[in-house]
Amino acid sequence: MPAKRRRNIHSHAANPAKSAASKAGAKSSIAQPNAQLWGGRFEHGADPLFKLFNDSLPFDHRLTQQDIAGSIGWAKAITAAGVLTLPECEKLINALEQLSDQVTRDPGMPLRSGQEDVHSFVESWLVEKLGPLGKKLHTGRSRNDQVATDIRLWTRAQVDARIGEILALQRALVTLAQREHATIIPGYTHVQRAQPILAAHWCMAYFEMLSRDAARLADARTRINICPLGSAALAGTTYPIDRETLAEDLGFDAASDNSLDATSDRDFALETLAAASICAVHLSRLAEDLVFYASQEFALVEMHDSVSSGSSLMPQKKNPDAAELIRGKSGRIIGDLVGLLVTLKGLPLAYNKDLQEDKEGLFDAMDHLSISLRIATRVIETLKFRPENAKRAAQGGYSNATDLADYLVSKGVPFRDAHEEVGKLVRHALAAGKPLEDLTLDEFRLHTKVVGKDVYKWLTLEAGLAKREVRGGTGPKTVARAVAAAAANLGIKTVQVRRH
Ligand code: ARG
Repeated sequence: MPAKRRRNIHSHAANPAKSAASKAGAKSSIAQPNAQLWGGRFEHGADPLFKLFNDSLPFDHRLTQQDIAGSIGWAKAITAAGVLTLPECEKLINALEQLSDQVTRDPGMPLRSGQEDVHSFVESWLVEKLGPLGKKLHTGRSRNDQVATDIRLWTRAQVDARIGEILALQRALVTLAQREHATIIPGYTHVQRAQPILAAHWCMAYFEMLSRDAARLADARTRINICPLGSAALAGTTYPIDRETLAEDLGFDAASDNSLDATSDRDFALETLAAASICAVHLSRLAEDLVFYASQEFALVEMHDSVSSGSSLMPQKKNPDAAELIRGKSGRIIGDLVGLLVTLKGLPLAYNKDLQEDKEGLFDAMDHLSISLRIATRVIETLKFRPENAKRAAQGGYSNATDLADYLVSKGVPFRDAHEEVGKLVRHALAAGKPLEDLTLDEFRLHTKVVGKDVYKWLTLEAGLAKREVRGGTGPKTVARAVAAAAANLGIKTVQVRRH
């Protein structure tokens, strides 16, 4: 969340731990919340400014449920390894489940604890609740394998959620394609009218991009879903942990194979961010299309009031803010990817505190990709094409010039000559201020010899589309088949598609 990401660095003032630390001063040895995790070696407490700098709880509290789940798994694993008795294990698990419920009801609770990070929060809560038993849970584990596990659990759930959101957007696109099956729009290259296409073909282009986005996330998931727990700080735990059973218990596909790698690489987060960035770029392109399609100059679509906003000064304005923000969000998501790449690139093995910087960007990217996908779905669900304008635009701009060249080719003219002749005809038509299909036969014959009356049928929009029934083309039958196949895949009822 942006509010969290851009948290005021002084916001710890509200934190009781900070004010206690400030009063005590940096030099004195004070009781501090993290004392129980690593305080033994220290004579002095933390400088409040250092605590502010070092603490990750202000953002990693978002991993509380994952930390609890990992801790339950760990409690079982060390019990099986003979560290805890069964009754001890049960007590720990009951307490952890109770904490989970409490945090579900009051998500602000971890944050208020003033602890260093989510791991110390959970452990200190357990110690407070269970006394010495709470202190046993960390046997054989380190925050290094713990945090790597937590963040993999979190990322896995997020990736699943994003795939679900992508599917919802695809459903909206297919439904729009069905609704607009008869709408013809200009297709552009260089934002110049190029050739007419079906609006449904445009919808399905984004459908295809999103299919690959979902596939990329699903592929990243196979490498996210590996369990680092049991790697301990860097060298592997000294207790006889059954790591395969532990991994399976936490829903992972396998246990990691190298403890140095497992505690210190974040490539799974990079892959997730890369897949998120590519998806955000696709959304940005969709948004950009809609921004200019909705402008009065193009006037090909109307965006719904519910996803538009107005101007405080100009009463007539209706701005495509939803689309512009989707386009804008892609910048920060790409920034999150680049940020983590740079953080990781110089790190020596194994864990370094720099790795604490892996979280906020990942959280930010997932949050903003999520809302972008959900808003894009609303935009598409409520989008209306303006078929009359779109058809007029598709007919203009000499976008049937390629079809005229193809007509000449059908009469035996080599394509390169046909291209040249049609170019001259376009120049003539431009000067005469009319479209190609309004030229008289005598006018056609100024620049080409082979034109007959049948040329007029070739030059209609419908004929141009019907000639593109190649696989992947904008031919109406081909597009209808693509839409029907996608609808069937997504479980959407197929509407009867009228013939053009
Ligand atoms: N808050 C830390 C992080 O996010 C947890 C791991 C801390 N480990 C350590 N050895 N200091 O990376």
